[in-house]
Amino acid sequence: MAPNPAAQTAFGPMVLAAVEHHEAAGRRLVDDDLAESFLPARLRTLVRLTRFGPLRAAVIAASERAGPGLWASIACRKRFIDDKVSDPAAEIDTVVILGSGLDTRPYRIARYSDLPVYELDQAVNIERKTAAVQRALGDIPASVHLAGVDFEHDDVMTVLADNGFRDTGRSLFIWEGVTQYLTPQALHGTFEQLRAVVPGSRLVFTYVRQDFIDGTNLHGAEAVYRKFRRRRQVWKSGMEPESVEEILRGYGWRVIEQAGPSYYRDLYIRPTGRKISASPIEWTALAIKD
Ligand SMILES: C[S@@+](CC[C@H](N)C(=O)[O-])C[C@H]1O[C@@H](n2cnc3c(N)ncnc32)[C@H](O)[C@@H]1O
Repeated sequence: MAPNPAAQTAFGPMVLAAVEHHEAAGRRLVDDDLAESFLPARLRTLVRLTRFGPLRAAVIAASERAGPGLWASIACRKRFIDDKVSDPAAEIDTVVILGSGLDTRPYRIARYSDLPVYELDQAVNIERKTAAVQRALGDIPASVHLAGVDFEHDDVMTVLADNGFRDTGRSLFIWEGVTQYLTPQALHGTFEQLRAVVPGSRLVFTYVRQDFIDGTNLHGAEAVYRKFRRRRQVWKSGMEPESVEEILRGYGWRVIEQAGPSYYRDLYIRPTGRKISASPIEWTALAIKD
């Protein structure tokens, strides 16, 4: 099956994480020392140039012009999710990353733990990822399992089971930067499939506001709307922060935390002293399975 155009979007968040990593430790919004090494050669070269501060500032300023607040939103959502991965209170036995793209988390986790990690994405991206990891790290760690999936057509739990996942302990499901690319049927169908997971499991996912998807409130991000909704039409689904709790309750999940621009400002941006703000269009939610 031909990959859907969303496959190409795997690179952007990793470029951002790699550029951010060149900020000094106290100014960095997200810490990812592997991001640069997972990128294709051309992007690695470009990112390397951003070690030079003025060039890095120019790249961030260009991103701010194209999509105000998206730089900080994407960096901070990564930080928020990393915090959930390392939260000992979650007592998780497995991590499952849905639409993992070039996410380096499985390989950062494998440095200190043999916690099983499953990462699922379109087959074309699983091939790219396998090649990138082999080039950057040599081998795929034994604890990491990669599998192809299409959320539009496949049953996630069946794909996981076929690849060795046993749903007997608590899992942390990560669905970062993906839900907006799915049709509402695939989005809700996947929530339905996840209804089956072990109680106490956690789900952390990002979403784009429904009013932005509908075009009724562009929240100052007109260029993003033109790019993702009008021209490429790759963003298809959204939710409202006020309705996420009720939607998730319908699938047996209890929302315990939501992070939007003010959360990111207070917890992650302000301590760095940087003059940057996060976009109101993308939010992150954490839910626990009842
Ligand atoms: C913006 S990237 C996010 C990647 C990664 N989660 C991150 O935040 O760095 C979106 C990812 O969702 C995946 N994706 C989009 N639609 C999909 C579908 N129908 N089935 C499987 N993966 C899909 C894309 O292939 C891509 O890797």
